[in-house]
Amino acid sequence: MDIRPLNDDDEDRRKAFALFRQALLGIADFGRTSPETEARYLAGGKPLGGFEGDILRGVVNGYDASITLPGGGRVRHLSVTHVGVSPDATRRGIARRLIVEQLRRARAEGYVVAGLRASDARIYGRYGYGVASWSVRHELDLTQAGLAVSAPREGLRIIDARESFALFRQIADADPAPRAATLSRWDGWWSMQEYRTFQGSTPYHAVVFGPEGNERGYLRFHVEPSENWFTSSRRTVIVDDLVAHDDEAWQVLISHLFTHDILHRVVFPSRPVDDPLPLLLHNPRALEISGQRDESWIRPLDLEALLYARRYGGTRQVTIAVEDDIFHDNGGIWSVGPGGVERSSCSPEAHLAIAELTTLIFGAQSASFLAASGRINAISADATEELDRVFATSRRPHSGISF
Ligand SMILES: CC(C)(COP(=O)(O)OP(=O)(O)OC[C@H]1O[C@@H](n2cnc3c(N)ncnc32)[C@H](O)[C@@H]1OP(=O)(O)O)[C@@H](O)C(=O)NCCC(=O)NCCS
Repeated sequence: MDIRPLNDDDEDRRKAFALFRQALLGIADFGRTSPETEARYLAGGKPLGGFEGDILRGVVNGYDASITLPGGGRVRHLSVTHVGVSPDATRRGIARRLIVEQLRRARAEGYVVAGLRASDARIYGRYGYGVASWSVRHELDLTQAGLAVSAPREGLRIIDARESFALFRQIADADPAPRAATLSRWDGWWSMQEYRTFQGSTPYHAVVFGPEGNERGYLRFHVEPSENWFTSSRRTVIVDDLVAHDDEAWQVLISHLFTHDILHRVVFPSRPVDDPLPLLLHNPRALEISGQRDESWIRPLDLEALLYARRYGGTRQVTIAVEDDIFHDNGGIWSVGPGGVERSSCSPEAHLAIAELTTLIFGAQSASFLAASGRINAISADATEELDRVFATSRRPHSGISF
């Protein structure tokens, strides 16, 4: 199979996207009704095609972004998407060849990690992708919850959800202390948000917090389709995006949802596993937390750069032996701890594969958790506890966006 880039022109990009849609089944051909949206969405992508002769059999795509690490550092992130193989050519290793080739090229281009959202949790571990963040779904019963904290209404502005994308983007980009796993959002991602907002079958709404020119957060949401909104006893909105630069901004934006007398319910499809929302409520039982699932899958390309960009806690250095089947030079023994990171020749205190190291680096799970499930092998309980301290984070990673 011949693998080559498919980004010479818009037509090539459209072909690659069409093959992905054929494989995924659930994405509409919106290029028919809105060719400009499709062109904007696909511009900036780096699709690779797998050909047998002249026939395109499989595709992978990627967009340029950066990702936040614990401690606030950021590294270059290839946002991998549109992984698809024609249904009549699956299970012949086409996806494997495309995915590995994409990783090689991304590394050569200077990306520190590749990252994606998985349609199925069993696909990507074999290529060294590890789970770097988890998410949960929140369903809030506004009629029962009540706010335990009184947040001011001042500083909130209801704005036009369709016409304010430049402002949303500015606020998201200016977040001073994003959680680990937060991604910078690229043009194509924003164009899809705009498209959905304009094409949605129900209305979209938005509110921002903070003085004009110095906003500190926003909330975008839309109305859940309902047979009869006027008489329904389950009038629900779905939160599409919530950006808050600080605790006050978050409290005020959530409180805003309680000011709508018309509403009964709010759904947050993706929140961090340690979201403080239950504590904001007078009656935390009015919040149903469900659907815990893998969110960010990250594949280190340049492990040294990734390890250097993170900050560490702990009381001493720990030596770990890392295995990487694809990029062998990522593997070997590393010393990690409050003194930083370096290659080591000491005897390792723990053995782990690159995917599990990714989970630790982002703080998605603790070393104890990984050891309990046999995913890392430590020589002693002391080594595991020290790894817990070295990789400890105050907030769990979460990105909040899918792509
Ligand atoms: C996922 C997909 C790209 C795999 O393509 P493929 O060419 O069949 O993949 P390969 O032949 O290289 O091998 C895939 C391996 O993953 C395994 N696998 C595990 N779960 C899988 C899943 N849900 N789907 C596909 N493969 C899966 C296969 O069993 C196979 O392992 P094996 O080699 O040990 O048998 C293809 O099934 C597809 O296009 N699916 C629909 C679109 C999609 O879901 N894309 C992912 C978006 S994140």
